[in-house]
Parts: sequence; C-alpha cells; structure tokens
Amino acid sequence: MSDDGIDRKVLEQIEREATDRLRNAGDLETLEELRINYLGRKGVLTLALRSIGQLPQEERPLIGSLINEIKGRFNSLFDEIKAGISAGISDEEPYPGDPSLPGRRMWTGGPHILHKVMKDVKEIFYRMGYSLAEGPEVELDYYNFEALNFPKDHPSRDTQDTFYINRDILLRTQTSPVQVRHMEKYDPPLRVISPGRVYRNETPDPSHASEFHQMEGLYVDRDVSLADLRNDVTYFIHSFFGRETNVRFRPHFFPFTEPSAEVDMTCFACSGDGCPICQKTGWIEIMGAGMVHPNVFKFAGYDPDSVTGFAFGLGIDRIAMLKYGVDDIRRFLANDIRFLSQFWRGSWVGAEK
Ligand code: DAH
Repeated sequence: MSDDGIDRKVLEQIEREATDRLRNAGDLETLEELRINYLGRKGVLTLALRSIGQLPQEERPLIGSLINEIKGRFNSLFDEIKAGISAGISDEEPYPGDPSLPGRRMWTGGPHILHKVMKDVKEIFYRMGYSLAEGPEVELDYYNFEALNFPKDHPSRDTQDTFYINRDILLRTQTSPVQVRHMEKYDPPLRVISPGRVYRNETPDPSHASEFHQMEGLYVDRDVSLADLRNDVTYFIHSFFGRETNVRFRPHFFPFTEPSAEVDMTCFACSGDGCPICQKTGWIEIMGAGMVHPNVFKFAGYDPDSVTGFAFGLGIDRIAMLKYGVDDIRRFLANDIRFLSQFWRGSWVGAEK
C-alpha cells in the first residue's frame, strides 16, 4: 500500500492518536470536537471508510471491518470519557469519595440575639416614624451628666458610676446623651431613637453587667404630651410582647425629665397573677421615661417655652432576657456558642448529620 493510501498501520496510528486525544480531552467541548474530527461527515474515519473503494478488491473487506471496529472502540471510549467529565471525574484524578454519601453540613453563623432584638425594636419604632440618631460610647462628662441636668457632685450621679478616661471623658452610662447631641444639631420637630452600648462600674451578677445596651427615644415638637408618650410606649410593648400586655406608668425620678416615670408591663410569666419572676407583684419594669426637663432644652439650645417633648430609655438586654427567658445577663457577653446558637435559624446548612 502506498504512503497516502489506507492500510492497517495507518489505521493503528490513527486509533492510537484518537485514543490519546480522547483521554486528554478535559471538557465536553473538546470531546465533541474530537468526535466531529473522527466521525463527522468529513471525519478521519469516515473518509477512510469512503476511500476503501480505491483499494484492491481483496483488501476491502478486511480494511473495512477494521475501520468499523476502530469506530466502535472510539465510540465506547468517547461515551466513557464523556460520562466521566460530566460527573467531574477524570482518568488521572479519580473522584476521591463516594458520591452517593450526603454532603457535609456547613456552619453559617448568625446574628447575636441582642442584635436581633435591637433590630426588631428599631423596626417597631421606624413604623411609628422615628429615625435613627447615633452618639459616641466614649463620651464627655458634659453630655452624659451635666447637660442632662445631673449637676457636678449631685447624688443623682451615684446611681451611674462608670469608667473615667479622665475628669472630662468617660464611657457613657446611658444613651441619653444622644438626646442633647441630636438637639444641638437639629431643629425641632424631631423624633428619634438611639440604640447602643453603655457602661457602668457594676459588680457583675445575674442582672448586672458592666457593659449592656439601651435604646433612647426622643420626641420633640409643639404640644407633645404625656398621652403621646404613653401611646408610643404602649404601641411598642404591644408589638414586641403581645397585645394582651398591660402597661403602667409609676412615678419616679430622673434628673432630665419632669415628670418622670418608670414603665412597667404585666408579667409575661404569670400574666399579672404574681410569681417569682415579678417578685409577686404581677409587674415588670422595662424602661424609664418622662417629659424632657426644661433645663435639658436649655442646654441643647432649644426654647423650653416653645417646645415640649418626651424621652424614654429602654434596656435592650433586659427585654431580650424577658422575651427569651434568659436567666443571666452575663450570658450575652460570654461568647458561648452553645448559648448563642439557640437563637439562630438555619445555622447549619446542607445535609443532615
Ligand atoms: N437613662 C436612664 C437610665 O439609664 C433611662 C431613662 C429614663 C432614659 C428616663 C430616658 C428617660 O430618656 O426619659 O436609667
């Protein structure tokens, strides 16, 4: 047989090359190209088969069946490699595992429960038309106390000892300083909430930590009244704890409000009958509130004769404890995944164990 003709040797050479190329095809596209290259209308094997007419009569059947055998082997190797590529398996690097096993579960983490409570509370107040105000945690004595009508050396400061950076700078004990900062910057009317972290020099126990969270509320306009305060506070409590909750205002003292009140709600555990959680009173205190003191307006540069307003301060950790039955405020800080992960939904994704 001449060089340009078809014989057994040439065919073996073609098959070796085709096999090599099939095995090295890394993707389905290359594989398809090879198929067209060899078996397409103008493919190498197709043309070879067509050209057997030029061979001497006696060679035709042998070469013809050889070509058909090669085509058959090409096809089955093609199918095998195609299945491998589709399943992500290659000859050189066999899939290392058992693909019928369930997948690994993935740890996704989730928001801290206090973060979630804060978000829920904010959303309730946003619905009422409040917007967000923020202030620093490292605060001036002036904003934390002085401008909130806590005079220097006044005993009212004793309830809120804190960590001092120096005589004038401290870690804020409450979110109330944001009231004055905000009023200094903006003219009335305003209606804001200000959530954030606060600090106190406390001996830690189940209901005291030296770091916790509050949310301040402030509403200033003409003719804002105690009835407005009661309305907004009640709406919040009903939204967060449920509509069956009763709300009461109990007279109290805060230097920056007059009159002032502590706000109680019916105990969620006994519905007001009296139990150990509410110390048999049927009520649980959840925030301080009152009408903004004229001195605070003066410090902030507002005219106390032309505006009125109310303010309230809510303990975020406290309402989180009440709503979720957490028995110790220090758990929020302990970073114990067993505690924190109870409040996540979908913290594991993927197959079951
Ligand atoms: N800042 C107060 C505290 O930490 C809570 C509070 C009481 C805030 C009355 C207020 C308020 O805005 O009107 O104890």
